[in-house]
Amino acid sequence: MRFRCGKTDAVTDLLIELEQFEKDALAAIKNAGDARELEAVRIEFLGAQRGRLKELQAGLGQVLRTAEKETKARLGSKFNEVKASVGAALEQRKRELERPAAVTGGLDVTLPGVAPELGRRHPLAQTILEFKDIIGRFGFTVAEGPEVEDEYHNFEALNIPHDHPARDPLDNFYLATAASAAGSGARLLRSQTSTVQIRVMEKTQPPVRVISVGRVYRPDAIDATHSCMFHQMEGLMVGQRVTMAELKTVLRLFARAYLGHDVHIRFRPSFFPFTEPSVEVDMSWDEPGKPWLEIGGAGMVDPNVLSAVGYDPDRVSGFAFGLGVERFSMRRYRIPDIRLFTSNDIRFLRQF
Ligand code: FA5
Repeated sequence: MRFRCGKTDAVTDLLIELEQFEKDALAAIKNAGDARELEAVRIEFLGAQRGRLKELQAGLGQVLRTAEKETKARLGSKFNEVKASVGAALEQRKRELERPAAVTGGLDVTLPGVAPELGRRHPLAQTILEFKDIIGRFGFTVAEGPEVEDEYHNFEALNIPHDHPARDPLDNFYLATAASAAGSGARLLRSQTSTVQIRVMEKTQPPVRVISVGRVYRPDAIDATHSCMFHQMEGLMVGQRVTMAELKTVLRLFARAYLGHDVHIRFRPSFFPFTEPSVEVDMSWDEPGKPWLEIGGAGMVDPNVLSAVGYDPDRVSGFAFGLGVERFSMRRYRIPDIRLFTSNDIRFLRQF
């Protein structure tokens, strides 16, 4: 180390040397390829015996002895700053070298990965899967049917004649096709999953035990419990001596499996053109003050419907039911408004 005679020059020299020391040390630390090389760098620059900083410290001591107060402070803080920066760089490099790098490209396979955010099933999709699972245990298989239906399957085959008010275009979503304009072969969005009953019976001989779950469309006024697009689960069982008692048992067991053992089922007399007798199905819970909630329609398949698909109503009988999927899901998850299902609100969807 060289020192000039003048006091100011000596200070300047020392500052330059401290800067050079820092530059050299940081470069050497960066280039150290393993722990041994890094230790050699540490000894060379910060070694307690003959390290380069030790030498600088000796020079500093000489200058400080004669320096003014202000210069002393300046030199002292620069010295400490350089020492701290080199010390920190050494520590950081040490940690880097301790981490085993992968064979290729320096990729550290031991670092925790960045977890991709997984999506999840929509609550209705979860409900439908669970429905299929539960009802499958009763021996029902799953059938599919089209959402765009012809009038025959949506009405005629379900005993709803041409002049029946249920066919009013205002009560249904008809598709504007050339055929519908001509009044023949009209197509519409199905208004109930009961259409699938017919399609199954047309293709299958009894005994039959199927369900079908899917979307249905009605121009209903939208409120907390009604939508213009919702889901139904249709059930159909046809065989010898199938009775209402079995219908009620299947519905009760199903509702309890999905919602819990305190669920009660009630049949209320009603009318559907394709079942005779027909009932509305209501549910209630062991909760004081809770009113009965309508969850579906059901009944014994009308003999006319059985005949129309080629079954012999004197030999077989059957029951059918159509349940509102949203109503079950809302009760299960305590969802207060049906519109939340289609709100596409991530805060809602994240909860399932
Ligand atoms: C029917 O749709 C008949 N197809 C049910 C049926 C099937 C009867 C088989 C006999 C034999 P209903 O229109 O009542 O019935 O509808 C059945 C259920 O769908 C209702 O109880 C309710 O849970 C649900 N539902 C009806 N309309 C809406 C709506 N706009 N929004 C949400 N859910 C609805």
